[in-house]
Amino acid sequence: MNSTQLEQNFESKLAKNETIEPKDWMPDNYRKHLIRQVSQHAHSEVVGMLPEGNWITRAPSLRRKMVLLAKVQDEGGHGLYLYSAAETLGITRNELIDQLLTGKAKYSSIFNYPTLTWADIGAIGWLVDGAAIMNQVMLQRTSYGPYARAMVRICKEESFHQRQGYEIMCVLAKGTTEQKAMAQDALNRWWWPSLMMFGPTDDKSPNTANAIKWKIKRESNDELRQKFVNQTQPQAELIGLHVPDKDLKWNEAKKGFDFGTPDWDEFYQVIAGNGPCNKARLTARQKAHDNGAWVREAAASYAKKHMSTVAA
Ligand code: 3HC
Repeated sequence: MNSTQLEQNFESKLAKNETIEPKDWMPDNYRKHLIRQVSQHAHSEVVGMLPEGNWITRAPSLRRKMVLLAKVQDEGGHGLYLYSAAETLGITRNELIDQLLTGKAKYSSIFNYPTLTWADIGAIGWLVDGAAIMNQVMLQRTSYGPYARAMVRICKEESFHQRQGYEIMCVLAKGTTEQKAMAQDALNRWWWPSLMMFGPTDDKSPNTANAIKWKIKRESNDELRQKFVNQTQPQAELIGLHVPDKDLKWNEAKKGFDFGTPDWDEFYQVIAGNGPCNKARLTARQKAHDNGAWVREAAASYAKKHMSTVAA
């Protein structure tokens, strides 16, 4: 097939909602776009283990500790599926990790905020995993097959994460005055950064047009942010917490909430590496990478030995 036919074939698959698979021809920019998004997503899962991992030793009961441990392990697993999906696009794991550690690749802004109290673990599950699912449900139908398939399991697990976070918030909100205040304080600090997770407004989102054209994203940043606010405000109200937004109010005409504007200067500072915890997160990842060198060497040496046994 010549290049025009290859391109037509690609477009026709997209039009029929068929997935693009690793061995299929794809435009270079589609491949690059996916490597950027999938690897950024993988990095987010792995860096996202840090703020919560920090609370495993301080969880208030054995049950809470087990649930949090399981959740943090899930995030590690999500990172691994997603790195594998990215590798099918022709980039190596080493290159991907290198991009993270040298600051060339982004990861979600949300993980550059500190977890100050136990209620933050509730707020992260409820809001951060809630925002992640809102974004990721559509990614189960993304056009690149390995990414779409990885997202099916990830979404099931994220749904459990969201529930465990909301349950923590429900318990705290029904608890003592101090516990309720702690839950409200966590909501106050995590609300706006959670809205920023969806990315800049559509008119300032350089990647959305191609993402929608190629069916990588099925909904825009603003559409998903609106859905998240519509879903989350009633959940807050139900447990007696208040979303910290004076402009939040129901708009009957659009059947959704109007809401205030996140601090976009803060968002751009955070994604440029200047958030409260960016340096700490990358230092922790670098340390984990260095400490894991012997594991990678042992695995490579075992694989070499196994290959030579098979060959003999
Ligand atoms: N944090 C960091 N960077 C962000 C960002 C965020 N919240 N939102 C946008 N950006 C970056 C983009 O990567 C892009 O930079 P680049 O061109 O240098 O890569 C720039 O800001 C402009 O944004 P666009 O809207 O044009 O970019 P996208 O169309 O890629 O949209 C996105 C951004 C919505 C995050 C999209 O990439 C996406 O859906 N990614 C997959 C989902 C994902 O990565 N989720 C991470 C959430 S955390 C998570 O899943 C872990 C879970 O356990 C909670």
